[in-house]
Formats: sequence, structure tokens, C-alpha cells
Amino acid sequence: MVLKYVGLSLTLLLYSCSSSVEDLSTDHSRDYLSGKKFYEQRCEICHGTDGKLGASSAKDLSKSALNSGEMEELIKNGKGAMPAFEHSIESDSTLYELIEHLTSLRK
Ligand code: HEC
Repeated sequence: MVLKYVGLSLTLLLYSCSSSVEDLSTDHSRDYLSGKKFYEQRCEICHGTDGKLGASSAKDLSKSALNSGEMEELIKNGKGAMPAFEHSIESDSTLYELIEHLTSLRK
């Protein structure tokens, strides 16, 4: 009877340990917005999930040939109908991931 009880509390202990380790590895521990999330929230409305939407005459990102420096410039300062995002991007990590995400949209 006593042994059974010890076994149960050990199981509970192990369970609570493993679930806290899991928590640390999820997105909640990230202290910046991921580039993909930023794209979903701010860019998809004109460019679409795959970059091809072309709303408000947005350019097709799957056919873009800009290098990462040019993309950074354009994202920060905007161009034509595209707004500037310099002040909405709070972390360089978000910006770099965003540029990586744009590159991944190219076929
Ligand atoms: C209001 C609509 C709109 C939103 C929102 C928008 N864009 Fe654009 N985007 C445009 C337009 C319009 C152009 C074409 C600008 C031009 O060349 O005159 C463009 C062009 C671009 C280009 C250049 C493509 C090329 O090859 O010339 C990139 C890269 C780009 N957008 C990325 C983004 C990213 C990243 C976001 C989100 C942070 C974003 N855009 C949000 C409208 C938008």
C-alpha cells in the first residue's frame, strides 16, 4: 500500500518535471515575434500567404530578385503603395527571419 503511494507520487513528480521542460521549449520562451508571424500579421494582407496575392498592386514576392540588403531597405522605408515597417519591427531577429521567410517564398 505504502509502496503504491510512493510510486504514484514519483509518477506525478516526473510528469510535472517533463511538462515544465516542454513549456520552456515552446514559442512562449521566445522574446521576439518570429519573422513568419510578422509576415502573417502585416504582409499577407497585400502579398498573400505565398507572396503572389498582389493586392493594392503589391509585387509578386515569389518572383522578386532583391537581395537581403535591398529587402531590408524596402521593408524599413516602404515604397509606393507599400508602407514603411521600420517602427513596427521591434527586433533585428524578427527582421532577419522575415527576410529569410521572403526568400523561402521564391520558387
Ligand atoms: C498595403 C499593401 C502592402 C503591405 C501591407 C506590404 N506590402 Fe510589400 N509591396 C507592396 C507594393 C505596392 C509593392 C511594390 C512597390 C513598388 O515597387 O512600387 C511591394 C513590394 C514589396 C517588395 C519588393 C518586391 C520586388 O521585387 O520589388 C518586398 C520584398 C515586399 N513588398 C515585402 C513586404 C513585406 C515583408 C511586408 C510586411 C512587412 C510587406 N511587403 C507589406 C504592398 C504592400
